[in-house]
Amino acid sequence: MKKNPVDLEKQYLIQTYARSPIVIERGKGCWVWDAKGKKYLDFVAGLGVNALGHGHPRILKALREQAARAIHVSNLYYHPYQGLLAAELAKITGMDRAFFCNSGTEAVEGAIKLARAHGGRITKDKFEVVALDNSFHGRTIGALSATGQPKYRKDFEPLVPGFHFVRFNDIQDLEAHVNERTCAVIVEPVQGEGGIFELTREFLEAARELTRRHQAVLICDEIQCGLGRTGRYLASQEYGLKPDVVLLAKPLAGGLPLGAFLAREEVAASLAAGMHGSTFGGGPLACRVALEFLAVLREEKILANVRRVGQYFYKRLLALQKKHPLIRAVRGKGLMLAIDLDQPSRPFVEQALARGFIINSTHDTVLRFLPPLNIETKHVDLACGILDSLFTESSREAAKPVGEAAPVSAVRA
Ligand SMILES: Cc1ncc(COP(=O)(O)O)c(C=O)c1O
Repeated sequence: MKKNPVDLEKQYLIQTYARSPIVIERGKGCWVWDAKGKKYLDFVAGLGVNALGHGHPRILKALREQAARAIHVSNLYYHPYQGLLAAELAKITGMDRAFFCNSGTEAVEGAIKLARAHGGRITKDKFEVVALDNSFHGRTIGALSATGQPKYRKDFEPLVPGFHFVRFNDIQDLEAHVNERTCAVIVEPVQGEGGIFELTREFLEAARELTRRHQAVLICDEIQCGLGRTGRYLASQEYGLKPDVVLLAKPLAGGLPLGAFLAREEVAASLAAGMHGSTFGGGPLACRVALEFLAVLREEKILANVRRVGQYFYKRLLALQKKHPLIRAVRGKGLMLAIDLDQPSRPFVEQALARGFIINSTHDTVLRFLPPLNIETKHVDLACGILDSLFTESSREAAKPVGEAAPVSAVRA
């Protein structure tokens, strides 16, 4: 008998994911459908990858046309799109040069190598990296070494030596850790996986000043918060900050795997031929689609939409907080928003799913919203209506005397 995807995965996949129990088969815009034909409003958007939702006609056209011409060309040769994409990214980020890879974690790895090579040119002992508590930079060993969350690190220690962590938004702690041995400070301007926390302008300015003083590079990991998510090309642009290195991935190629680290000229010069490379990174299909993604951001005025709809969403979440005391905080910017609950958030993810609404739980008590950047206020209304009914139901259940609470299965149905 033919097995379904869930049974097959349970039998054959290394069990690293605690997946929600639906099989997503297709999508259109901010909607997806499961194998049973049920429709869902998707406010996870492939964890920020599907920034234009599914099936955007321009992305599909670019994909089809380029797939018919050349999917892959080795980095031994030129192709028409890698240089064009690098130039476009330089224009929107203020950086000078790019290196293309396939994922966020690879962009982090490359940036660490770049920072160490750069530091090594200044003095032999300049290899230390300062990162933040509660950060998330990826799953490979270097990126994990920069990730300030013990739950991700504990099974793989010892990690790469030379990484130090400072308290979030604590300038004194930063000052205590950045010195002549530091080659890089790496920050997410808005922490994503850690629960949507924004760095303050003061902290970012202090990081900029200290890295300059000690000839270290300031790396902004904009893999989640960049490329329009907060209503600007880079979240760090909000503060007029000019980092030395910027990391991008997630939405860059409209759903195809593509990551990049971008650097200022003087820093980029520390990587010479043969020092870094990638078989897949920066292939013609991914680069051609990424160019189309950036053109859509610009021509369809997506950043303005993010600011407008994001502000509307934020206000609606604040109104929900007023009504439902279980919401401790509303956080975020643009369409990178979260609510922090006074209880575990995971059950609400499952209940929302049962009602056709896809959201994500992170940091135990946080519900994170990363919808496509082209959603409209009517989608926010639908989303907030579902959240409102879930929270109303939850407080009704909590108010019932013990013994009367509905069984979990009934609540989820
Ligand atoms: C800020 C940040 N950096 C790095 C990564 C790692 O990216 P990837 O999963 O593509 O390796 C993520 C992924 O969520 C991220 O949010």
